[in-house]
Amino acid sequence: MKQPFNQVKIALFLLGITLLLFACDRNEKVMTETPVYTPKEEVSQDKIKIGFSMDTLVEERWVKDKKLFKEAVENLGAEVEITVAHGNDVLQIWQAEKMISSGIDLLVIVPHNAESTAAIVNKAHAAGIKVLSYDRLVKNADVDLYVSYDNEKIGELQAEAITNLVPKGKYVYIGGAETDYNAHLIKKGVFNVLQPYINNGDITIVFDQWTKEWLPENAKANIELALQANNNEIDAIIATNDATAGAVIEVLQERGLAGKIPVAGQDADIAAVQRIVEGAQTMTVYKPINELSQKAAELAVMLARGEDVSKEQKVNNELVDVPSFLLSPIAVDRANIDETIIADGFHKKEEVYRSFGE
Ligand code: BGC
Repeated sequence: MKQPFNQVKIALFLLGITLLLFACDRNEKVMTETPVYTPKEEVSQDKIKIGFSMDTLVEERWVKDKKLFKEAVENLGAEVEITVAHGNDVLQIWQAEKMISSGIDLLVIVPHNAESTAAIVNKAHAAGIKVLSYDRLVKNADVDLYVSYDNEKIGELQAEAITNLVPKGKYVYIGGAETDYNAHLIKKGVFNVLQPYINNGDITIVFDQWTKEWLPENAKANIELALQANNNEIDAIIATNDATAGAVIEVLQERGLAGKIPVAGQDADIAAVQRIVEGAQTMTVYKPINELSQKAAELAVMLARGEDVSKEQKVNNELVDVPSFLLSPIAVDRANIDETIIADGFHKKEEVYRSFGE
């Protein structure tokens, strides 16, 4: 007589187990539906290892990239080995080869030389390792993914800001390193905006040179030549980054011209932001590095796991159209520093306004 009662109990027990498993399965799905957040335990048995081959740590931003990329990768449960080539092509190739042969799952690279690093991409591919180009694009190689800020847009923002202030006159262009593809993309953006003014005769380019190795001393030599050749009669200067803008402004200061000639830069270095509030630099282009490093880390881990990271956007590197993820840069001048750079915590208010004694 007890038989049916026991059967009911067993049936209820089985139903309970099924519901429990269903609930766990749902939880599992919720987690895996968000590929950017992977609990550490899930990958800990077979940790993904990413190699991050950097060019330099000279400009302030790269120190942030290094720290934030490492943190982002580790928060995703993967690990990262970082090398820095200090502007040496041979060293960068050697360091990358070493990481490739040590068994990394994916290579992330900030190329010093856009051309020579193509060899690294080919070597990685030969070893079955995919390559993500970080911030700077490797040229003439079948790069798997490019994650950066929209560099052409950076140049456009610089030129728009300066032409709004100086729609007519003599312009000086202080380019970046010719070996860095970003320098070319940014320059293209600058001239997208300047060309109509040049065509109608309102703007004349009186000096246009690359800055070898992005070195401020080379930018300094260039601006000295430009000022000398034009009897100091220059109306506007566009420098490709804040380090070169800083060198330009040092020379202007020596000649009593700082604050009189608009100067554009890029990177939102603390020194540049201070110069902006103090009136020596006109604008900078702000690229929140935490967004870049976070996005690159997420995509790198997905790529290493063989997940689909296909992107609509493409940037041509003179061999292929590289699938690209491009973030939007932000033009910053005196008027919007507080709501951008300071509000984001990129720099502290007291550091930015140091000379105002706040
Ligand atoms: C980067 C800039 C940087 C420059 C020099 C460029 O490729 O986009 O942010 O200032 O390199 O390192």
